[in-house]
Amino acid sequence: MNALEQSEARKLATFLEVGQTLAGTRKINDAMASVLETLSRHHGVVRATINLLDEDTNELRIAVSQGLDENNVRRVKYRIGEGITGRVFQSGRPVVVPQISQEPLFLDRLGVRKKTQGRQELSFICVPILVNRKAVGVLGVDLRYKAERDYERATVFFSIIATMLAQAIKVDHLTGAEKQRLLDENIHLKQELRERYDFSHIIGNSGPLRQVYEQVTQVARTNTTVLLRGESGTGKELIAHAIHYNSLRASKPFIKVSCAALPETLIESELFGYEKGAFTGAQARKKGRFELAEGGTLFLDEIGDLNVSTQIKLLRVLQEREFERLGGTETIKSNVRLIAATNKDMEQAITDGHFREDLYYRLNVFAIFMPPLRERKSDVLLLADHFLEKYAREHNKSIKRISTPAIDMLASYHWPGNVRELENIIERAVLVCETNVLHGHHLPPTLQTAEGSGTVTRLSLESAVEAYERDIIQDALKTTRGNRKKAAKLLDTTERILGYKVKKYGIDCDRFRL
Ligand SMILES: Nc1ncnc2c1ncn2[C@@H]1O[C@H](COP(=O)(O)OP(=O)(O)O)[C@@H](O)[C@H]1O
Ligand SMILES: [Mg+2]
Repeated sequence: MNALEQSEARKLATFLEVGQTLAGTRKINDAMASVLETLSRHHGVVRATINLLDEDTNELRIAVSQGLDENNVRRVKYRIGEGITGRVFQSGRPVVVPQISQEPLFLDRLGVRKKTQGRQELSFICVPILVNRKAVGVLGVDLRYKAERDYERATVFFSIIATMLAQAIKVDHLTGAEKQRLLDENIHLKQELRERYDFSHIIGNSGPLRQVYEQVTQVARTNTTVLLRGESGTGKELIAHAIHYNSLRASKPFIKVSCAALPETLIESELFGYEKGAFTGAQARKKGRFELAEGGTLFLDEIGDLNVSTQIKLLRVLQEREFERLGGTETIKSNVRLIAATNKDMEQAITDGHFREDLYYRLNVFAIFMPPLRERKSDVLLLADHFLEKYAREHNKSIKRISTPAIDMLASYHWPGNVRELENIIERAVLVCETNVLHGHHLPPTLQTAEGSGTVTRLSLESAVEAYERDIIQDALKTTRGNRKKAAKLLDTTERILGYKVKKYGIDCDRFRL
């Protein structure tokens, strides 16, 4: 991928992130601040401000800023038409100053730029924030000066960000029904964007997973071979799908072959097909998966388990882009993008002579590593909620939420089977749950004792009863926001008994007081 493609991919990832931030936050200023933070993190923005019109004084004031001293910020204001900021507001058109040291119009109200002069030249891009074609504010960014920067492209980029900000500001100014309608519209837009990039069913917002999303957007539209690595159950297949549906081959087939599931003798005929009479039982010509995937994507799952003789044939297809059916002489041209996945230590397999080094290099052009679930704890609850909703719907149950103790158990478990294990556990819990809250005792014993060591222990009747008791007491306390008297009443017991149990289980009532 060249530098331009890389920068486009980064922009795309930013649009997604900004869209999500603006749609997902109640407080507009917090959301705008986090947008500026995103810009400074990924787009070389040194300082940024969002100025909004103060309707009382008819002046522009800084609503949020990034990279500036708070005290400075409060002082600064511009009249309409004053300085670059005021002019951009008045005209509704962007202004670009490639080198601010050369620009007399530059007022430097913030007094920060002068100091840096002589050391590091800066560029300034200022774009209007327009609602119904009327400016409501201005987005201004200081960038490190680069002579080769494409200022037109950069301005378009910041203008799109300003449009997204405008939409959020517009929503913020509305009330009641109108607001709800627009919010719904926003959710719909967001959904559309996600579906377009087909991340809609990939749950998770943790840093490591976001990095994966970014890699997917980078590589999807190329024809590059991708190698997905990571433990079993981390979502490799899901990512393979996302890459395909975000690629230019999206309308063509996505074909999967599991290299581990098929016996050695069958895998070659599966991959390359065969001619009639190629072997006993070959009564008619059969197309292989390579042919079925023509124009699309072939996903080779568990590539580390592929036998060595098939590895040689696969290598040839990768090099020559052609193959023959088993028992056939006709050479078939192949236009297929390969995505391979493995949970094996490939370097070790090469050392051990189980995997050909030359094939490995052909496959390992762009590697994406799927982080294990235990390294992205913040995704556990998002996923648990997602699966709860999914399986409750599927099994026609009205389970509304997961109890606090059950959440604690999910959060402290080490998830050796990753997302697949979590999914199975939640489905099973949904099946056995007869109330509208999913409790700790609906989870398997491995999680009951997971807290300390993560080791498997048999659960005695006594500890199972205790776990259940602790669970419903915490739940009652949650309902009553830590009020023991009310909780006791809810559980049909006395305050004294409840007090005793609370002490016995070391429950912290303050935790529920919110
Ligand atoms: N981030 C995720 N969001 C939603 N579901 C996920 C996620 N990661 C994995 N899953 C689900 O977990 C299961 C295992 O994922 P899979 O892609 O088959 O893992 P792998 O191929 O790495 O073994 C699948 O049912 C998949 O849909
Ligand atoms: Mg798999």
